[in-house]
Amino acid sequence: NKGKYEHYMQKEIHEQPESLTTTMRGRLIRGGSCKAKSVLLGGLKDHLKTIRRSRRVVFIGCGTSYNAALAARPILEELSGIPVTMEIASDLLDRQGPIYREDTTVFVSQSGETADTLQALEYALENGALCVGITNTVGSAIARNTHCGVHINAGCEIGVASTKAYTSQIVVMAMMALAIGSDTISSQSRRETIIDGLFDLPSKVREVLKLDQEMKDLAKLLISEQSLLVFGRGYNYATALEGALKVKEVALMHSEGILAGEMKHGPLALVDETLPIVVIATRDACFRFLLMYSKQQSVIQQLHARKGRLIVMCTKGDAASVCAGGSSRIIEVPQVEDCLQPVINIVPLQLLAYHLTVLRGYNVDQPRNLAKSVTTQ
Ligand code: UD1
Ligand code: BG6
Repeated sequence: NKGKYEHYMQKEIHEQPESLTTTMRGRLIRGGSCKAKSVLLGGLKDHLKTIRRSRRVVFIGCGTSYNAALAARPILEELSGIPVTMEIASDLLDRQGPIYREDTTVFVSQSGETADTLQALEYALENGALCVGITNTVGSAIARNTHCGVHINAGCEIGVASTKAYTSQIVVMAMMALAIGSDTISSQSRRETIIDGLFDLPSKVREVLKLDQEMKDLAKLLISEQSLLVFGRGYNYATALEGALKVKEVALMHSEGILAGEMKHGPLALVDETLPIVVIATRDACFRFLLMYSKQQSVIQQLHARKGRLIVMCTKGDAASVCAGGSSRIIEVPQVEDCLQPVINIVPLQLLAYHLTVLRGYNVDQPRNLAKSVTTQ
């Protein structure tokens, strides 16, 4: 039932404040006078000790689920101190990459049925790793066959392009990072700030959804383009990949997400006065990432110097400083805790992909050649 919406993708984008609330329900503990704020993931609590002892965490997934894991990687590394590596399920299988008993492997899948991810799970089980599932589908093959896991509880997702499952997956993996890191006293205040940020997140998503008309106007400008680049770094490298994936899969427009730090090693050659480029340059809260913000400002300056056609996503209030030295179209988004910023930043790009698709006259909910769940290899 699409309710007041024309398409499932549109409905699922707009219901994210509610789906995120459901994802977090009963899992955030407010704390009190003598009790710290904390996270409770019923499906992981008996396995946290084993996870903390593991030598490595390996995230495994396909498509949007892989991108969600990439978005959560920095906060898991920061709060757990455990090295985190990323695997596209099919590539892990092609290489028969090493997986050890000392590894924690985390299988991320909305459907819980993706053939490559499921086969990678069998492979990790054979190799004796602890297997954790992050799924949206209770009773799915991945939920059943993992040792433990977390249901993201985003509600049924019908649009082939994943939207609300992506943001719920990031939130669940951020909560997983908080739970794994909860035995470290030195990061207690950092964790409490993130938990406060999680409580506020649905209202911030509601705020960013107000950009709907603005994204429709931007889509009108881009309707006949051949290609769109998206530059991001740090927490928002995943946003660049996922934003480009949305545009590619539903609007049927070539789009590429690029790690901004790699700009000079190839992509800069593409920059001219015609190719539209989205640059994600939101401010990250903690000191370490202030440096990253200025790095992204320097990327913008270099793109301006080559007369690049920029669309800059920045934190509310930063438009003037971020674009000094050239003209750009601006997308201003609310600021949240750095590790949660990808949840906010993807929303305008989801809206852009949606409107581009409708304006270009393509099928939003069932894009050409794609399936919601890829159960064959
Ligand atoms: C569970 C209940 C929820 C109830 C809550 C009350 C289910 C599905 N969930 O939620 O209805 O309100 O307790 O305390 O009954 N699991 C995997 N692999 C996965 C996902 C999950 O093995 O990919 C396992 C978990 O380890 C856990 C079980 O499935 O044993 C349920 O997981 P989850 O729904 O996330 O647990 P709770 O949030 O505690
Ligand atoms: C398909 C879907 O390609 O599978 C994507 O069209 C999805 O939206 C990908 O991201 C992975 O699916 P799942 O269910 O494993 O998250």
